[in-house]
Amino acid sequence: MRLEGLCTAVTGGASGLGLATARRLIEAGGKVVIIDLPGSAGAGVVKEFGAAARFAAADVTDAGEFAAALDVADEFGGLRGLVHCAGAGRRLRLLDKEGEPGSLEDFEWVIRLNLIGSFNALRLAAARMARQDERDGERGAIVLTASVAAYEGQIGQIPYTAAKAGIVGMTLTAARDLASRSIRVCTIAPGIMDTPLLARLREDVRASLEATVPNPARLGRPEEFAGLACQILENGYLNGETIRLDGAIRMAPR
Ligand SMILES: NC(=O)c1ccc[n+]([C@@H]2O[C@H](COP(=O)([O-])OP(=O)(O)OC[C@H]3O[C@@H](n4cnc5c(N)ncnc54)[C@H](O)[C@@H]3O)[C@@H](O)[C@H]2O)c1
Repeated sequence: MRLEGLCTAVTGGASGLGLATARRLIEAGGKVVIIDLPGSAGAGVVKEFGAAARFAAADVTDAGEFAAALDVADEFGGLRGLVHCAGAGRRLRLLDKEGEPGSLEDFEWVIRLNLIGSFNALRLAAARMARQDERDGERGAIVLTASVAAYEGQIGQIPYTAAKAGIVGMTLTAARDLASRSIRVCTIAPGIMDTPLLARLREDVRASLEATVPNPARLGRPEEFAGLACQILENGYLNGETIRLDGAIRMAPR
């Protein structure tokens, strides 16, 4: 799909990977609805972007709120793209230091945000896209965000790993489910990206993280994620695949 004039919802678009993607889409002549939490920087971000952007406050795990946010996209030209970046982790081990079982509530919280939130975004966005006329032979394209933790979960990442592996698992099935509607689905599995999530790290910790990336030996840039997300939207033959964006990193146990 051509990005010019394309209306795309970007969840988590007020920060990090989502924000860089929103910026890239607008630079390419697209229209963007940033969907993020009410307390996020979304309202300020769209002021900077001007007429090509709208902000719709919503929790991606809430069916009613997310549907209302997609109404904004419908009024803004009709939804054809979704780049779903909203997500976060929470440290949890199977057993804590005292040998007590890890928190079920924390496990559920991470699964709900990352996996159930992705399913909610997928299903509601796909229903809107399916109503569009075909353009360039398709009705829409969806990009989900997993993580290399889906493949090499580290100690303390068990809920995040489970959620992100679930997203990788859903990708091909979702592409098959939506094939008859001419909607594609791909997932990006980023390595260690230089977003606000990592900005708080001490310089020496950051340097040691960078040294774990084979080539290039640095953190990934949000613009590199944005470039790949845009390529997935544009390239009509990319479908049903999860693409690692990680400088060849393979995460160590801890
Ligand atoms: N930064 C990394 O190194 C890295 C690596 C692998 C995967 N990821 C994944 O990439 C995605 C984006 O990460 P980031 O680094 O840009 O994080 P970030 O914290 O900079 O941005 C995430 C955004 O999601 C929003 N968000 C959180 N919960 C939400 C909810 N329930 N509803 C709506 N919005 C919500 C936040 O308000 C925030 O604006 C996440 O899914 C994360 O798991 C990040």
